[in-house]
Amino acid sequence: MKTAEIAQRYLDYFEKNDHVIVPSASLVSGDPSILFTIAGMVPFIPYLNGLVPAPFPRAADVQKCIRTLDIEEVGHTARHGTFFQMLGNWSFGDYFKEGAISYAWELLTGPEADGGLGFAEGDLWVTVYEDDDEAAALWRRIAGLPDERIQRMGKEDNYWHTGQPGPAGPCSEIYFDRGPAYGRDGGPAVDDSRFTEIWNLVFMQEQIRDVRSKTEFEVVGPLPKKNIDTGMGLERVAFIKQGVQNMYEIDQVRPVLDRAVELSGRGYGAEQEDDVRFRVIADHVRSSLMLLSDGVTPSNEGRGYILRRLMRRSVRAMRLLGVDGATFPELFTASRDAMKDAYPVVASDWARISQYAFAEEETFLRTLAAGSAILDLAITETKESGAAAISGPEAFLLHDTYGFPIDLTLEVAQEAGLDVDRAAFDTLMHEQKARAKADARSRKRALADQSVYRQFRAAGETVFTGYGELQTESSVLGLLVDGVPAQSAVQGQIAEVILAETALYAESGGQVADKGMIVGPGYELEILDVQKPVPGLVSHTVEVTQGEVGVGQAATSVVDAANRRAAAQAHSATHLVHAALRDTLGRTATQAGSLNRAGYLRFDFAWGQALSEATRSEIEEIANNAVRDNLQVSTRVLPLAEAKELGAMALFGEKYGNTVRMVDIGGPWSRELCAGTHVSSSAEVGLISLVGESSVGASNRRVEALVGVDAFRELAAERAIVSQLTAALKTPRDQLPGRIADLGAQLKAAEKKIAAFEARALADRVPALAGTAAPVGGVRLVAQSLGAVASADDVRSLALQVRDRLGADAAVVALGGDVHGHSMVVVATNDAARAAGATAGPLAKAAAAALGGGGGGRDDVAQGGGSDVAALPAALAAVRAGLERP
Ligand code: SER
Repeated sequence: MKTAEIAQRYLDYFEKNDHVIVPSASLVSGDPSILFTIAGMVPFIPYLNGLVPAPFPRAADVQKCIRTLDIEEVGHTARHGTFFQMLGNWSFGDYFKEGAISYAWELLTGPEADGGLGFAEGDLWVTVYEDDDEAAALWRRIAGLPDERIQRMGKEDNYWHTGQPGPAGPCSEIYFDRGPAYGRDGGPAVDDSRFTEIWNLVFMQEQIRDVRSKTEFEVVGPLPKKNIDTGMGLERVAFIKQGVQNMYEIDQVRPVLDRAVELSGRGYGAEQEDDVRFRVIADHVRSSLMLLSDGVTPSNEGRGYILRRLMRRSVRAMRLLGVDGATFPELFTASRDAMKDAYPVVASDWARISQYAFAEEETFLRTLAAGSAILDLAITETKESGAAAISGPEAFLLHDTYGFPIDLTLEVAQEAGLDVDRAAFDTLMHEQKARAKADARSRKRALADQSVYRQFRAAGETVFTGYGELQTESSVLGLLVDGVPAQSAVQGQIAEVILAETALYAESGGQVADKGMIVGPGYELEILDVQKPVPGLVSHTVEVTQGEVGVGQAATSVVDAANRRAAAQAHSATHLVHAALRDTLGRTATQAGSLNRAGYLRFDFAWGQALSEATRSEIEEIANNAVRDNLQVSTRVLPLAEAKELGAMALFGEKYGNTVRMVDIGGPWSRELCAGTHVSSSAEVGLISLVGESSVGASNRRVEALVGVDAFRELAAERAIVSQLTAALKTPRDQLPGRIADLGAQLKAAEKKIAAFEARALADRVPALAGTAAPVGGVRLVAQSLGAVASADDVRSLALQVRDRLGADAAVVALGGDVHGHSMVVVATNDAARAAGATAGPLAKAAAAALGGGGGGRDDVAQGGGSDVAALPAALAAVRAGLERP
């Protein structure tokens, strides 16, 4: 049974049993405290803990998940994958234990011919939480399971939570017995490899906090409603139903493994170590493909780092299999072909995905080459110093800064007969992890108190009226002071205000929050920020500038109209620039982030190299032509699937709300899913001026632009500079570049001339200087101070010219000069002088000592310098004294 068919049977079964089928949410979790969707329940957390009322009482889905906590297990066991799909059925306050158990049992053991999964009853075992007598009794009654196949386990195994504060509860797991060939008798309590968990039914009933470990946390209290969260491992069921040994051999994964085997020229099933590598590659390549398809891009932190790590581990595994060159073009293509039926986006977005994947592999291969050079140096230095091990900080630097994996460092060091100070390395790694954890904890704390918003959100979504009006009368539903619900807030206090309706835009989709006020009877509030702390709820952070505001009072939200207008111009301009970029660069230039506020926009997109001046101008022109064309801006709310069909650009999956808002500018020319505020026709944008283009990371570029009046002001400032230049240079504007280039050339020519004059002037001094030669200690010596000179080179050049003029008889020239307040002496000797023992180096040194500095050089010419200009005669005397000595 193909993996896709298992998923389809699951969805069909639950649809038949009144569940709404919902699409998978993105792998990128909307919850900032969890990097990825690690379980099917993550996108439903707001419904499960009652923060947001669930739009349906029961649902079912196939959810894409990423878990990298067990990354070291990948390839070693049959069932650990970093990417996997979880089939789930959900009850939000509807059915509970009995329903969950009946559905699970019926689907698992139902005959294949009737749409079931066809498991033999005798192959299934279950576990329940230690004191959950109710679940045990239900398994006996509904499934007819004998007591010995219902095992009880503790919190470690049968209590489920995400590791974060949130909804949790006891669970009951269903296991498949692979048979005595795979391990010991005695059920999952004894051997969880022979007995493979395939489905987990969680009875979500309480809220927990202060989570310290799997078993240590504090139960806050019961959830407002009891819920069901189940998770069936699609890959696990697939490998069992397909009669293969593990999840890396199922139809969606095996083709990558086979490709890696071919590329390496080694066999699968021959060497245990190699097999693990093949499975790691098959798993990691698929995970990377899926992460890229959900918009994650490789980087050095957060989600991007995990993606990078997966890709690098694959490269590393290929190298250990003996392949040094690039393999992603082959491996990712194989994975794409295996996944595209279930996730068409991996094929439709292939150009972008493959661009990132292949570039990352190339970069890493270069890193490995560069790291090898640094490591070679470290090895040489370590050996020279007589140490037996490469130091911990050195190994850490290679890992942390150069991305050079520690196991590679160990391996290469070993080949060179060296150790690595592993203990010191581990300490540094440990410190780094502790820093990362502390950082994550502080973010979690900020989120843990979201429950204060539950009561407000329960009253419904905050209605945003600001698309149509800039002022809305409503009432204060709630107030928070210092994060705690309050009845009132007085002048000078900072508070959060929840209104039933608001005209103020909350920051989202790259558009910053509105500015403005909230006013009511006897009070005035200034808006500091507007955010959505939970989906659907708007919270205004305000300063009470006048009077006292209380819950229940009338409240009018008032938008700062000028600021809003400029923000709308900037947001519409962002869409225009995005469309222009795609017109110019093609469809792979997809959005990677954006920010827009009054007068300014910033747009990041996937692109590997700098844009040429011509391309920038083209993008700017296309966007401004769209402004000139006065294109109509229209918005429409419609089902997501329909919007996608119409070609709207949306990279991230959306689980909340079945409908989306689509913004068109000029019909399909610019079509994006967007909840932002826009102008009503493109002409209102006024003007877009691209002011910057730069790189963000290895594979993204950023354009920045000024919009509307701000763009005009920028251009006006430039015009002012240009008119100053035309006046100063007395040159018409269009001839300015040529004129400035001419001026540069003239300046260069003049400098050349001056240099020639100076050289002539120097040469003119040669005869007179040579004329001062007098015998000293068997040579002829010229020792003269030149006074102020332009450069050290002049002194040197003159010394050499004088020496040459003195002919072949032994001669020494010592010239001193004052170069911009620094004293210097150059000593030059000819062949005969050197033969007689007069070398320049020691003489220059002696002169420099007199100047209070140092010096030296070759035997034929040397120089010295110091700060004492007055000591020049003494320095020349020192040279003479040096020659007088026998
Ligand atoms: N939340 C449970 C799990 O992830 C069941 O979906 O295992």
